[in-house]
Amino acid sequence: MKPIRVGLLGLGVVGGGTLAILERNREEIARRAGREIIVTRAAVRPVDLERARNRVAGRVELCTDPAEVVNAPDVDIVAELMGGIEPARTLVLQAIAQGKHVVTANKALLATQGNEIFSTAHDKGVMVGFEAAVAGGIPIIKALREGLTANRIEWIAGIINGTSNFILTSMRDKGESFESALKQAQALGYAEADPTFDIEGIDAAHKLTLMAAIAFGIPMQFDRAYTEGISRLTAQDIRYAQEFGYRIKLLGMTRRTAQGIELRVHPTLIPEKRLIANVDGVMNAVLVKGDAVGATLYYGAGAGAEPTGSAVVADLVDITRMATADPGHRVPHLAFQPDQMHDDRVLPVSEIETSYYLRMRALDRPGVLAEITRILADLGISIEAMLQREPEAGEDRVDVIMLTHRTVEKYIDQAIARIESLDSLSGSVVRIRLESLEAR
Ligand code: HSE
Repeated sequence: MKPIRVGLLGLGVVGGGTLAILERNREEIARRAGREIIVTRAAVRPVDLERARNRVAGRVELCTDPAEVVNAPDVDIVAELMGGIEPARTLVLQAIAQGKHVVTANKALLATQGNEIFSTAHDKGVMVGFEAAVAGGIPIIKALREGLTANRIEWIAGIINGTSNFILTSMRDKGESFESALKQAQALGYAEADPTFDIEGIDAAHKLTLMAAIAFGIPMQFDRAYTEGISRLTAQDIRYAQEFGYRIKLLGMTRRTAQGIELRVHPTLIPEKRLIANVDGVMNAVLVKGDAVGATLYYGAGAGAEPTGSAVVADLVDITRMATADPGHRVPHLAFQPDQMHDDRVLPVSEIETSYYLRMRALDRPGVLAEITRILADLGISIEAMLQREPEAGEDRVDVIMLTHRTVEKYIDQAIARIESLDSLSGSVVRIRLESLEAR
């Protein structure tokens, strides 16, 4: 059989990793795919042309115009590895319009434009692989879409941004500052071009949006995701959480409830005895709860050249195997048949239900705690644990930390507003959500 020919849009970290894997494991990949998979062309940025030339030394035809790769007759699959919304969206749609299959690592593109891209691909009968878009090398899309297909998925919790996990781990273990840990992550090639995407939870929300779509059979609704990053977290809260036996992670959480779908990314306390709480550094992990299988955990490198390249190549092999199959008999892009998607409501954050860590600075005087607990009780919020520090010498105020049982977020909002209006409180109440992630 003739080789299947791939055109790369981008030969940076992920493109370079993909090419290296395809070349190194060429024979083994062909034995799996049934045909050889070769890269015929790659588009690179003008500034990278010279370096790319030295690297691929005539094996791959290089250019600086990605449309040239998309339109080339010797390209069967377009691998979009450039990132960003435009021109990636236009190029992907152009490839689809020409009946070419697409592989992309671009979570921002799919989370925001995926509904259009997948429906166009469906109409044209072409495949769009996106394993590399979520959690780098972890085959979580395959697991959700195929391995867990028997299950009604109940919830997914993921550490799906390596950069923020690296920062939180360095802050906790090495007492490193936020800025210096971020610089290291950038130097290692983990961070997005715009680091705000990493530290403000946007990248994680892109990935969570994709997982929620295939887990629940809903369209991508990134605009309804609640997103809160790690930039306001303090070392003090990381320490207090540890005293209670918790770690703080930037967690993506999506859950199916009777009221709708929760879709949220925020710093979260997780009991330190959970395996996922021990996922450190740049590593990623996704915990999936299915009604039949129970909880399953997927762990691995969430970024980097060859881990992400591994996911790209897996999609290239899948497409190679399925290219001649009738489109109606392929695995649906989003796990559910396109006419079987539901438009379940994504809940506003005020309607989510979880537990909370609350830290406040209160006057050390009789009755203050009673006032605070009365407010919580009036709103039906039950306290699970509490810690009050001895006041420092010469101080008349103390840190009070409370962990609550599960409640609906709007009640915590009301409680915080009432507590903050007490004369005995100074400053604002710090609120961090808490998930026990029990597999029951
Ligand atoms: N910036 C991302 C991360 C890279 O830190 O996880 C992979 O999507």
